[in-house]
Amino acid sequence: MNTLPSTETVVHIRGVGAYLPERIMHNDELASMVDTTDEWIRSRTGIEQRHLVAVGQLTADLAAQAAQAALDDAGLTVADMDALVLATTTPDMIFPSTASMVQARLGGKEFPAWDIQAVCSGFVYGLAQVEGMMRAGMFRRVLLIGAESMSRIVDWSDRNTCVLFGDGAGAVVLEAGENDGCGLMRSVLHCDGSYRELLMAEHAMRGQPPHTDRQTVMDMDAAGVSAIQMRGNEVFRVAVTKLGEVVNEVMAANGVQKSDIDWLVPHQANIRILQATAKKLNLPQERMVVTVARHANTSAASVPLALHDLYQRGELKRGQLLLLEAFAGGFAWGANMLRWSRD
Ligand code: COA
Repeated sequence: MNTLPSTETVVHIRGVGAYLPERIMHNDELASMVDTTDEWIRSRTGIEQRHLVAVGQLTADLAAQAAQAALDDAGLTVADMDALVLATTTPDMIFPSTASMVQARLGGKEFPAWDIQAVCSGFVYGLAQVEGMMRAGMFRRVLLIGAESMSRIVDWSDRNTCVLFGDGAGAVVLEAGENDGCGLMRSVLHCDGSYRELLMAEHAMRGQPPHTDRQTVMDMDAAGVSAIQMRGNEVFRVAVTKLGEVVNEVMAANGVQKSDIDWLVPHQANIRILQATAKKLNLPQERMVVTVARHANTSAASVPLALHDLYQRGELKRGQLLLLEAFAGGFAWGANMLRWSRD
């Protein structure tokens, strides 16, 4: 259902959902696979465990579970939705989009569904994109999901990366409504592609177009997957700098001060990156959501999983100011700000 654009339209979060696959891998199990220790992983990253998909469990499966939970939380059904947007770095297929697979799993029909790719910043990018479309009057209610099976693109023999990632999904139901002083505020997004080689996973698609002699060369890699490659130390340094800048920028864009922020809901890559951002904001540690110990880095799922974690603790109050931020391969980074809309 389309709505007329109105300068008074504000987008609210009406429901929040999450799903984590059952299997949990603790650091000790990793230490039996690669040359690492529980102590090293905890002290350098804050990670204690991660959830991993079962064999045959798809990103779309995780996403559908989280989306259904968000719908239930909002007291709505898929038939009430006007669009479905899925942020993921680990789509199940090149096409169709994982969003379309999730729509089908939920029993939805006809409304638009599409994926967005901004790696770990996917949910933050998605929130900004969808909010703009809703404020323009295109949609009244949208399901926004972040879902990842990062374990499928990790090299499990590379200790530099395999200790860092996990799988999961988080989702929100967004609804356009009246300006009652709550809801999404201005977002800030950035990308600098010159950093791309510091953190990447090359594409598995290696087919060639037909040659002039009409002989088709299809050299698709049977394994189909290229693992994450990362220069962690350099990523760390840029992440801390850019996140420090972007939180200042989003506060300025919304005319708020550091002392106004009630909750920091950061992308969960490394506890030391989170702590650096909280310090820049003069924010007490207990006002920052930390799930990295239990979830590790779930890429586009990390921010909605952290939001769900805060929400289910029952500590969120209507009108409280939340700052969401993320940093990702690309590099792509950004931040959203909102006043919590629910009682
Ligand atoms: N276990 C034990 N040792 C490990 C290890 C592991 N799992 N991974 C790396 N090491 C070793 C390195 O080989 C290196 O050894 P060396 O000094 O003999 O060469 C040593 O630990 C220090 O490596 P360094 O990269 O300097 O460590 P670090 O303090 O920077 O921590 C990261 C590494 C990856 C945890 C950290 O850089 C990080 O979190 N970076 C950001 C990653 C990130 O956020 N990526 C996603 C962004 S969305």
